[in-house]
Amino acid sequence: MNQAIEEYISSIVKEVVQSELQYMIPKRRTLVVANWKMNMTLTSTTTFLDELSMAQEKCTVVICPPFPLIYSTKFLLNKNKLPICVGAQNVHWKDKGAFTGQVSAGLLKELDCRFVIIGHSEVREFGETDEMVNLKVKQALEIGIDPIICVGETQDQRERGETDQVIKGQILEALKGVDDLSRVIIAYEPVWAIGTRLSAKPEQAQEVHQLIRETIEGTFGQVAEQIPILYGGSVNQDNASSLSEMNDIDGALVGGASLDARNFANIVHAFD
Ligand code: PGA
Repeated sequence: MNQAIEEYISSIVKEVVQSELQYMIPKRRTLVVANWKMNMTLTSTTTFLDELSMAQEKCTVVICPPFPLIYSTKFLLNKNKLPICVGAQNVHWKDKGAFTGQVSAGLLKELDCRFVIIGHSEVREFGETDEMVNLKVKQALEIGIDPIICVGETQDQRERGETDQVIKGQILEALKGVDDLSRVIIAYEPVWAIGTRLSAKPEQAQEVHQLIRETIEGTFGQVAEQIPILYGGSVNQDNASSLSEMNDIDGALVGGASLDARNFANIVHAFD
């Protein structure tokens, strides 16, 4: 066969194989998650969702309102035809029982919560241990809700050079005994960056995101490549796109800036 034809055929074969491979290796999900914390009321949620304009984005957009607003947020999202999921800010590890003030994964599932934030530093501060985080992660997975597991070092720990050790410990404890990691999401939230307007620099965050991926890979293998690792801590519409350019930053967990509809939409667009 003429060499030119041979080269032409082999280039076509290569192209076809590459495009097929692209479909065979699942791409990591990108997520932008609003953590409303103890903010918003029924009235402000209605206004927010009236102001929010969002087309079908490539990334998954999630709003985690306070518990009593989950049902109405879901209702208003449907009414306004917004392609956004609801999530919760916490969950208990037991199915049900005498646990005043707690909420079960079963109830969250019934309310169509697809995601739940677990291990947020503001919850850990009130006594949530790594062991509790682990039990909650297992319970969420068991019930069919994707856990967003938060890890992060404090300012003191960073200054003492303990960041790597703290992060590795939190990750491995949270995932202890978890067999299937395909629905797990991690959020790196340095405690010193939360609500301080002092976001980690993109390269600084990337370093820890890479450490998280390597830590997971070391124990659980290749699945680490598929796990979305979100960054959280003073993300806003001005720093979102530089964070999104980092290899291992697959989205954001947004607190303060998620309370403003336009700011939140701009963050989503930066990651889309
Ligand atoms: P922040 O909060 O964006 O206000 O810093 C992030 C978070 O705590 O999830």
